[in-house]
Amino acid sequence: MTAGPGNAAPETAAQAPAEIASPRLDALTARGRAFLGSRHAIMAGAMSWVSERNLVSAISNAGGFGVIACGAMPPALLEAEIAATQALTARPFGVNLITMHPQLMDLIGVCRAAGISHVVLAGGIPPGPAVAAVTGFAKLVAFAPNHALARKLLRSGTDALVIEGSEAGGHIGPVSLAVLAQEILPALPEAVIFAAGGIGRGEAIAALVEMGASGVQLGTRFAASAESIAHPAFKKAFIRASARDAVASVQFDPRLPVIPVRALKNGGTEAFMAKQREVAGRLAAGLVELAQAQLEIEHYWAGALRRAVIDGDIEGGSLMAGQSVGMVTAEEPVAAIIESLVLGAEAALTRHSRAHEAPPLETAA
Ligand SMILES: Cc1cc2nc3c(=O)[nH]c(=O)nc-3n(C[C@H](O)[C@H](O)[C@H](O)COP(=O)(O)O)c2cc1C
Repeated sequence: MTAGPGNAAPETAAQAPAEIASPRLDALTARGRAFLGSRHAIMAGAMSWVSERNLVSAISNAGGFGVIACGAMPPALLEAEIAATQALTARPFGVNLITMHPQLMDLIGVCRAAGISHVVLAGGIPPGPAVAAVTGFAKLVAFAPNHALARKLLRSGTDALVIEGSEAGGHIGPVSLAVLAQEILPALPEAVIFAAGGIGRGEAIAALVEMGASGVQLGTRFAASAESIAHPAFKKAFIRASARDAVASVQFDPRLPVIPVRALKNGGTEAFMAKQREVAGRLAAGLVELAQAQLEIEHYWAGALRRAVIDGDIEGGSLMAGQSVGMVTAEEPVAAIIESLVLGAEAALTRHSRAHEAPPLETAA
């Protein structure tokens, strides 16, 4: 359950999302849609500073599945953000919590009290107590970086998985979605799996659900949407950029493992290298513990992302973006983005099935 009828916003005809016209897309996404409780099996991946009440409710109202990014929020702020989102949509949405948040269990308690139906645990393999707490009241979604961990997550109670390729924006793993999809989807045909990373058009959605994905997760395409509160300069940078501009950060020192981040190349990319050098230097000198050093790097990213998204500092801030940024060509309303994704997927599936039905060459001649 998300918003109760008492605090849900009334739905207008204009908000009612379009039905799926293609029975094939309908069938291929049935499991994903049932899992999410949404019209379309399209999750909007949580984006720190971007995925707040306005964008999340717009996505859910348009038939997708919005997810609040808790990021570094303390419990009271998350509670307020959930209540504000519930006031803007009567449709289901989720909450994304970062496992390394020091108040993770309190945040889970906030989700429980607010009647949140889906919790996404990101930023690492979810700890046992967090899994037990979430599955006591909500559906749990976690990220699977490979086949073995995908199985382990499902065994330990995770209800659905996201497989996210290195094409994605933000923190990324080392493997592309093209490979993860081949490794994991055919091996786990019963699991509810959402594919993410580099998805910009409906044709890709069609291909992934035909491979066995229950649905998809997109971030970059929604970051510059009309309902996104991101600064106009941030959105313009997305609209101008092409795929090759979204580059992954590199690890500077082997003693300081950092999770790569994909973002648009700018002065902030250089500044991050300097920050890594400085933290690695203090680590080598024994002035800081490894865990603390890694946390400093994460706080650095959170601050840099905020400067870009909220303040519009597109030179010094972090413009986290996936390679699908080249397919962001205008500031479009969320409903138009979702509609074009669905229509593209339907058209691709229709083309595929016509190709299968085509008569053999000798009779067609
Ligand atoms: C600006 C930005 C911020 C992000 N922040 C988060 C985050 O806080 N937590 C998270 O789990 N994923 C985060 N992501 C990843 C998205 O949730 C999503 O999985 C990803 O964007 C999908 O790939 P795509 O960008 O190619 O569509 C972020 C992505 C972007 C572009």
